[in-house]
Amino acid sequence: MTRRVYLDHNASTPVHPEVIEAMLPYLGERYGNPSSIHAFGQEARDGLETARERIARFLRVGKDEIVFTSGGTESDNLAVKGVAAARGSGHIVTSRIEHHAVLRTCQTLERQGFAVTYLPVDEHGLVDPDDVRRAIRPDTILVTVMHANSEVGTIEPIEEIGRVVRERGIPFHVDGVQTFGKVPVDVEGSGIDLLSFSSHKIYGPKGVAGLYVRKGTKMAAIQHGGEHERRRRAGTENVPGIVGLGKAVEVRGREMTAEAARLTALRDRLTEGVRARVPEVRVNGHPARRLPGTANLGFRHVESESIVLGLDLKGVAVSAGSACTSGNVEPSHVLVAMGVPLDWAMGAVRCSLGRSTTAEDVDYVIECVEPIVRKLRAASPVAAV
Ligand SMILES: Cc1ncc(COP(=O)(O)O)c(C=O)c1O
Repeated sequence: MTRRVYLDHNASTPVHPEVIEAMLPYLGERYGNPSSIHAFGQEARDGLETARERIARFLRVGKDEIVFTSGGTESDNLAVKGVAAARGSGHIVTSRIEHHAVLRTCQTLERQGFAVTYLPVDEHGLVDPDDVRRAIRPDTILVTVMHANSEVGTIEPIEEIGRVVRERGIPFHVDGVQTFGKVPVDVEGSGIDLLSFSSHKIYGPKGVAGLYVRKGTKMAAIQHGGEHERRRRAGTENVPGIVGLGKAVEVRGREMTAEAARLTALRDRLTEGVRARVPEVRVNGHPARRLPGTANLGFRHVESESIVLGLDLKGVAVSAGSACTSGNVEPSHVLVAMGVPLDWAMGAVRCSLGRSTTAEDVDYVIECVEPIVRKLRAASPVAAV
């Protein structure tokens, strides 16, 4: 049987066995609606509130400041559209490398009359806090910058950005989907008013997530209905999913620090191993300020999807930095913003390591990559190697 190696943990992760175990009763006998006042409802409510407390403790925030949603995408939409709706008009500052959940939400608001500044990044993908300072206007209603980029793993200086934003008294939203439960997030020290986080990136189930909303932040609901989540997000809560998210956070609290060190070493073994065997490879992203398990490798003069497919045949799962949209292969918006030349950006492959990744897995991937890239380059009219 072909060996199977999953290096796509930034896309999604397997559910932790302890998380599955914690969820099972809420898929079985504890099926009540948490809004019901009878015992069945209260059992479900207890599960929901225990999860909320765990997450609040993990982030060192108030329990009433956590709103459950259906995913990181919804959390980002709620934060950005919710603040925009509460204000009615104004200017938003964001960066060019945000996840589409933020970028496309900002573009939608622009079409509705809001003004948006999309900040540039440097060659490592860093936003300059001075650029944030310069972009803020008297009518700025929100600054939204991600904590770590999902494609290249660069960790933004959100403490410094938060200081600039707080001085001006503007709400600060941080998309923390790729850092929550992976590296420490200092909500208070970074002056964060809204923080998006998601469950399926940290060994919890899919379709459940949350948004931290600092007490007093003006944010309108964008989904209307019942009185759920203190009227900030209507709809019966996904109780089994939320219980799973709470458990996943508890497990991360135990495992996060040791795993970050282990993954950093494995990630460096991977990049060094590939670089030693394959000519014309670059590492995209910041050399030091980077997510522990993320390595975005750019192979010059090869198409990333061909590498992904070649590795898939060897049982290895990674993701492509370029995407095929309506018949054309487009480089990633993140790499374009970082100024990565096109002949490198088209060959970008993201490897994201996780709990189950071993040194043997990494060595197997290094072994597989070299012949795949060599054959693709041999067939390429532009490759000189
Ligand atoms: C930075 C970032 N924000 C938001 C999302 C969306 O999260 P979800 O998949 O939970 O909707 C992702 C998912 O890849 C992400 O990486």
